[in-house]
Amino acid sequence: MLKEEQIRVLRELQHGIDNGVSADAGGIVRAPVTDYTCPELLAKEQQVFFKETPLLLGLAADLPEPNTYYATAETGVPILMTRDGDGQFHAFLNVCRHRGVQVVPDGRGKKNRFTCPFHAWSYRNTGDLIAVNREQKFGCIDKSSHGLVALPAHEKHGMLWVRPSPGDDFDVDTLLGGIAGDLASWNMSGYEYDDAQVIRADINWKLAIDTFGENYHFDVLHKNSLASEIYGNLQTHDIFGQHYRMVFATKWGWRYVAEQKLPIEQWPYEHITLNVYFIFPNVILLPDANRMHLLRMYPDQNNPGKSRTHHNTYLSQYALEQIARHVSANGEIEPTPDAFEGFNNVVVNEDYAAAAST
Ligand code: FES
Ligand SMILES: [Fe+2]
Repeated sequence: MLKEEQIRVLRELQHGIDNGVSADAGGIVRAPVTDYTCPELLAKEQQVFFKETPLLLGLAADLPEPNTYYATAETGVPILMTRDGDGQFHAFLNVCRHRGVQVVPDGRGKKNRFTCPFHAWSYRNTGDLIAVNREQKFGCIDKSSHGLVALPAHEKHGMLWVRPSPGDDFDVDTLLGGIAGDLASWNMSGYEYDDAQVIRADINWKLAIDTFGENYHFDVLHKNSLASEIYGNLQTHDIFGQHYRMVFATKWGWRYVAEQKLPIEQWPYEHITLNVYFIFPNVILLPDANRMHLLRMYPDQNNPGKSRTHHNTYLSQYALEQIARHVSANGEIEPTPDAFEGFNNVVVNEDYAAAAST
């Protein structure tokens, strides 16, 4: 976020603390229950949001060096993302051109060619079909037209974007509109992959997103967890076309800047705020000074009342430097705390549990 915008946000939060007010939505919006329960709507969402819309599937750190890959079927279609020997990002349908078997099991690693587990056709990480087992028995196969099917894909601002079905290309900055510069300022290409988990919940995928959508509930639902760390019912509210950003204030951060008597221009923004980005249609990004959490919410194939949250977490350069400094001072690495324990105690045990009871 630009420095001037940080200061505007900090002033707005300070105003909220001083006056006991929060962002005002300007009215009541009623959401029909059928938005969360209708099977016909689910079928449309599957097609429009999860097949035809470019999605944010990962960060540059998921492909940390040339000849690495990241395979995931989270959208409902198996997708293989690769970084080729020149560092170029690609995405393909992870589907063999022989008999349609998934070529690479979901996961990540380093490889520049992939061999199908069924009959051993092999593909380069640029998608080219490079070997056909017992090729002479087939007669003439035009290998150049039987590579993996490429998907429109772009790496931009440290993010990996893929359209899950072949078709029209897209431009990431056009998709992001007014929020592009803000996201770029987090320098996402500097993060390092840490861990991943999948959370299955008995809630509609939009309800999973909604649980992140305000902090009016912090002093109630999270009274024994987040409420001691973050001001409840206090947030900023900024809409950027299809995307949205909220910022919360940490209690310890506000104590720190008061104790240090820092002018607002010197407040350490990334350390004292909690930033929540909603990226259309299904992503929540939670960056702070130490970590980036990337959450992708997906519906169950057939049941509007079930969803999966795919959660990757990454360490910032700042956190990596802290770890390195600690190691050089003590000569050993302390076990890092479980990346998901704190998150799951709040989001899974409190937010999703409450949402599942509705
Ligand atoms: S299905 Fe892949 S080689 Fe036959
Ligand atoms: Fe919550």
